[in-house]
Amino acid sequence: MAKTFPISQLSFCLLFHFFLGKCSSSPLAPALYVFGDSLVDSGNNDFLNTSSKANYSPYGIDFPSGPTGRFTNGKTFADFLAKYLGLPFAPPFLGLSEDQKSETITGMNYASGSAGILRKTGSAIGMNLALERQIELFQDTVKNYLPKNFKAKNELLQYLSKSIFVVDIGSNDYLNNYLQPAHYTSNQLYSPVQFAGILVKKFKESLQDIYSLGARKFLVFNIAPIGCTPALLSSENITSGCAEDANQLVSLYNEGLAEMLQDLSTCLQGSTFVQAEFYASSYDLNQNPYKYGFTSRSPCCSVNASTAQCYPDVQPCQDRTTHVYWDAVHPSQQSNFLFATGCFLGSSQYCTPLNILQLTQKQ
Ligand SMILES: *[C@@H]1O[C@H](CO)[C@@H](O)[C@H](O)[C@H]1NC(C)=O
Ligand SMILES: *[C@@H]1O[C@H](CO)[C@@H](O)[C@H](O)[C@H]1NC(C)=O
Ligand SMILES: *[C@@H]1O[C@H](CO)[C@@H](O)[C@H](O)[C@H]1NC(C)=O
Repeated sequence: MAKTFPISQLSFCLLFHFFLGKCSSSPLAPALYVFGDSLVDSGNNDFLNTSSKANYSPYGIDFPSGPTGRFTNGKTFADFLAKYLGLPFAPPFLGLSEDQKSETITGMNYASGSAGILRKTGSAIGMNLALERQIELFQDTVKNYLPKNFKAKNELLQYLSKSIFVVDIGSNDYLNNYLQPAHYTSNQLYSPVQFAGILVKKFKESLQDIYSLGARKFLVFNIAPIGCTPALLSSENITSGCAEDANQLVSLYNEGLAEMLQDLSTCLQGSTFVQAEFYASSYDLNQNPYKYGFTSRSPCCSVNASTAQCYPDVQPCQDRTTHVYWDAVHPSQQSNFLFATGCFLGSSQYCTPLNILQLTQKQ
């Protein structure tokens, strides 16, 4: 895959942004706002009473400032996207002072480990910012903080309409809800089809709420093949391939999501919804790791089976670029890089119907 990127189409500035971290010309979008779960949390859970935290070593071993609360060894998808756009990493909202909230106009991150589309999701392991709550915090940003930086309402609306909104959520509604019958009732109350329908309906309302606050350019993730994660493989005693029963559950949701996003693109005036094909691209990566330069699907650190996270202070694997997964559920920085690069510049294998570079150029 890496060799098929249209590098010749990359502007010098893009390369400059990415490899040197700065560029004299302006960024490709005014801001990046991030909603989601541990796949893109940049540190919000550090400020919450939960056992779902990644603020300890060896998390962050490949991040410039060490452990930050990111659930991987280095950068997340959202971090790579920020770099490609020429923006700073979106800081965790809960970590900002009042002054910083007022001054930050390049985007913020509301994502929270263990969070889901449903409010109850993840509650068995502590607090999180459920998607609804994340949107309330974004509303707070739009109503109380951002206006201080703009002379007129119209300018703020222009700014929001050109900004990129990433929403990467839903796997916890399965991993930390539907698939945990000891802690949640959803599995008894709803069939897989019904549950997927409930998620899609609720998610649609949430996306409409973000649109109502001024967002126009969306990147929405479908759910990864959770049955391929080391955590599910070991809980089902599977040694090769994937736990297809779990994959089938999330596929029901993914089918509904694709339809729902097309529907929203048509109904919400001026909106563009790009879907990140996380399922298909990650499935291929799990089936053919060698094709992408990986040699292992095992976690890079030794994990606590009850949390699927690395034990504190363990020495992780030597070559972290050859592991698909960092711990038992989260992709390694290298996987995040491949996916972000594919979605930013690549073909519809990653992001469809537009890549993010095209999304930034859309009027
Ligand atoms: C944090 O959560 C635990 C478990 O739910 C609870 O026992 C504890 O009182 C909470 N601590 C604070 C400071 O709220
Ligand atoms: C997996 O294997 C362990 C140990 O061999 C066994 O105790 C457990 O019941 C098995 N689990 C499943 C889901 O088959
Ligand atoms: C694994 O995680 C659980 C839940 O946080 C914790 O209670 C347990 O002590 C951990 N096990 C080890 C060996 O650290």
